[in-house]
Amino acid sequence: MAFDLIVTNATLPDGRAGLDIGCRDGRIVAIERGLAAEAAETVEAGGQLVAPPFVDPHFHMDATLSLGRPRMNVSGTLLEGIGLWGELKPLQTREEIVERALRYCDLAVSQGILAIRSHVDVCDDSLKGVEALLEVRRKVAPYLDLQLVAFPQDGLYRDPTAEANLLRALDMGVDVVGGIPHFERTMEAGAASVERLCEIAAERGLRVDMHCDETDDPLSRHVESLAYHAQRLGLRDRVAGSHLTSMHSMDNYYVSKLVPLMAEAGLAAIPNPLINIMIQGRHDSYPKRRGQTRVPELRDAGLAVAFGSDCVMDPWYSLGNADMLEVAAMGLHVGQLSARADMAWCFEAVTSQPAGILGLDGYGLAPGKNADMVLLQARDPVEAIRLKATRLAVIRRGRVIARTPARRTALDLPGRPGVVDPADYAPSEQADGIAGS
Ligand code: FE2
Repeated sequence: MAFDLIVTNATLPDGRAGLDIGCRDGRIVAIERGLAAEAAETVEAGGQLVAPPFVDPHFHMDATLSLGRPRMNVSGTLLEGIGLWGELKPLQTREEIVERALRYCDLAVSQGILAIRSHVDVCDDSLKGVEALLEVRRKVAPYLDLQLVAFPQDGLYRDPTAEANLLRALDMGVDVVGGIPHFERTMEAGAASVERLCEIAAERGLRVDMHCDETDDPLSRHVESLAYHAQRLGLRDRVAGSHLTSMHSMDNYYVSKLVPLMAEAGLAAIPNPLINIMIQGRHDSYPKRRGQTRVPELRDAGLAVAFGSDCVMDPWYSLGNADMLEVAAMGLHVGQLSARADMAWCFEAVTSQPAGILGLDGYGLAPGKNADMVLLQARDPVEAIRLKATRLAVIRRGRVIARTPARRTALDLPGRPGVVDPADYAPSEQADGIAGS
């Protein structure tokens, strides 16, 4: 049997090791030991981790890489970032958005991300951001799945043309219905926006992903409405609440009612650890709240939970590098997910969990699935997170589309084959002298 590509001696995220992965016609056709066969191309994994590709479930591609345009966010605050985006929106051209987005997609792919859900601001009557990202979605389709969310950033009801623009964006082919209920003028308007947006999604057979309760206000409870309308309209497994930071500050008794309702409705949760830890708790003195939603509690209740990156070098966030392992590491730390099983789960929160939320077809490492995978310079998912492991090879539909040279560390030095010899730390004569004096 001939293959287009074989990956040899791979270790999989579930711990199975010494496996060869045979790919043909863009799909995985065999995963087994000693897969002796001809192949047009061979990637030697050398016992390192081969994982399904990273999936970023929450991003803003219409703003990415605009850092410094038209000026820097000097204070580093959300408020200045919002002001900056308002300045940039009328200035930037469709061509500029396309060029930046394509550069970001190249970066993302080199980092092993092969699917992104990006929100696109529809509060601009020209809808040039929508046009730009639809063009980008077409252009990157051979190497990256880009899912777009119609996002009424200035509020569905707070902005006079937001609803009409959102419907136009969906007519143009945007995939998912977005929202921002906590930004509407009143709690009632926020709840009404959730109802309207879920009905639009139900009428059109679309998914929903709302920026929901991205605030420290424990009384911001729009996720309750989101769960209610998801359940009422039969949108099970098609509705995600992004951020959900108010849940961090909510009363525990209320949460004990809320979480089962979210599970019953089949909601998914998408915290964005880098941005949540940066922005939340800013009105606190000390102690400062972390602001990340209740990740293990939501997961244990049966919800799909995935970490998103949200922003990279844009008006709101000057940092970021399309590194979902950095995102996972922050989510792990902020959520205190340090149990062995929890750390391994954090790797799933940037791979299989978001793939399920996005509804990606053919995702995963198994015969019959798409031949999409990333070879990491790490032995297991926890080490990958610890090292922000180098992406040695990124494979899409059975073809290597990106490579990065292996990184050398102190442990790679001659005479130290991955193990630190305790003899290297024997006390010196001088130290002995001091100890004995
Ligand atoms: Fe966002």
